Amino acid sequence: MERRRELFGGRSAAILALAGSAIGLGNIWRFPYMVGQMGGAAFIILYLASCLLLSLPIFLAEAIIGHRTHAGTIGAMEQLAPGTKWKWLGLLTVLSPMVILSYYSVVGGWSIDYLWRSLTVGFHVDEVGAVSSAFGAFISKPWGPLVCHTLFLGACAGIVSAGIKSGIERFNKITMPLLFVLIVLIMVYSISLPGAGAGVDYLLKPDFSKITPSAIAAAMGQSFFSLSLGVGTILTYSSYIHRKENILVTGAGTVFFDLLFALIAGFAIMPAVFAAGIEPGAGPGLIFETLPFIFAKMGTTVPWVSSVVAVLFFVTIVFAAFTSAISMFEVGVAYLVEQKGLSRRRATLLIFAVTWLLGALCSLSFGPLSGVKIFGRTIFNFCDFLTSNFLMTFGGLLFVIFVGWKMDKAAVRDEFTHGGTARFNGAVFDVFWFLLRYIAPPAIVVIFLTNFVA
Ligand code: PFF
Repeated sequence: MERRRELFGGRSAAILALAGSAIGLGNIWRFPYMVGQMGGAAFIILYLASCLLLSLPIFLAEAIIGHRTHAGTIGAMEQLAPGTKWKWLGLLTVLSPMVILSYYSVVGGWSIDYLWRSLTVGFHVDEVGAVSSAFGAFISKPWGPLVCHTLFLGACAGIVSAGIKSGIERFNKITMPLLFVLIVLIMVYSISLPGAGAGVDYLLKPDFSKITPSAIAAAMGQSFFSLSLGVGTILTYSSYIHRKENILVTGAGTVFFDLLFALIAGFAIMPAVFAAGIEPGAGPGLIFETLPFIFAKMGTTVPWVSSVVAVLFFVTIVFAAFTSAISMFEVGVAYLVEQKGLSRRRATLLIFAVTWLLGALCSLSFGPLSGVKIFGRTIFNFCDFLTSNFLMTFGGLLFVIFVGWKMDKAAVRDEFTHGGTARFNGAVFDVFWFLLRYIAPPAIVVIFLTNFVA
């Protein structure tokens, strides 16, 4: 079916949108707490290596499919492998971002609540335990989190229904530069706190004994999540990139910004954690339980500065979560518009309805539905487990096999070298081809098995 497709306005718009998808809760919430749990600088080294050697090639594989076909996940598979079972990969990658979006929106909703609190009452506590129990009490109530989830998802729906250029592109163009400014400001504040030096050392001086097989698998898994791999978002966004744009430059630019943001977020959070004398390995509760305590504690010395930083911090989280969530939203919308002929507005409403419902169940699973278990996990934990440990890695593996072993090598080379016009010789392509065919598949299997056994 030939149709007119809206495209991103240019290279910077494409990089900002892809970086918007990549930079999210994964960078501000997951990366810092994993660094804290996995041993500081040593984990950062593993993370850098995973991004460059594993995730960049996978990212490019997905981007090449989208850019080559200018179609959503299912349309792309139908074009490149018509009449084969590969269309199931297209379908899988329409469904998995919807599952992630459902629980991601719940966490996005919590961030909205925290932003509201930082703007109104602030955080006034004198022990970490008090914030943890306030957090636990909030998420287990039915209504507050549900309202926040609805607000979060509703705002995403508003942006996506406005279209690629006037919705997604415009939002990312404003938000992404702002996010970088905010996180740098927070980092400067954090590093300037008395006692922050130990946190900086923690991030810069590697303890090589911390390089263990489970740390390696965790670093690979985190780079996968952070770059939004394996669930069709990179494919779908790349399908809105004009043919004249160089996909290698766009992909490398995105990975660079995602890495940079994660590192700055680490330097924004760890020094404050050390300055407040808190254990860096606090785990997933780090930003919702530990940080508010830090803001409260710092507030006793310089009251207004730390309140402003708290507001800026939660603004950063909310907007970073938005830019990622809209990329997941768009995958389903692209499918309904292109394959089912729905209008963008209807498609948005439908995706909103389905993800709202699943998200509501996830949200209630901290309270009234906490007794409902799927394979021994609450609904929220099951959706998280299913997507991060299974669907993302499985989808990523299939994309890599598809591009490395099924797609026409000449077509892949053509995309990679931008129609043969790229200035480097074939050696860079050969490295990419090798990583894609022989390194990425077993590495993904290792992440998968480690996650499963753990
Ligand atoms: N990369 C996002 C983050 O780091 O928060 C998470 C994400 C976005 C995962 C989009 C998957 C996805 F499709």
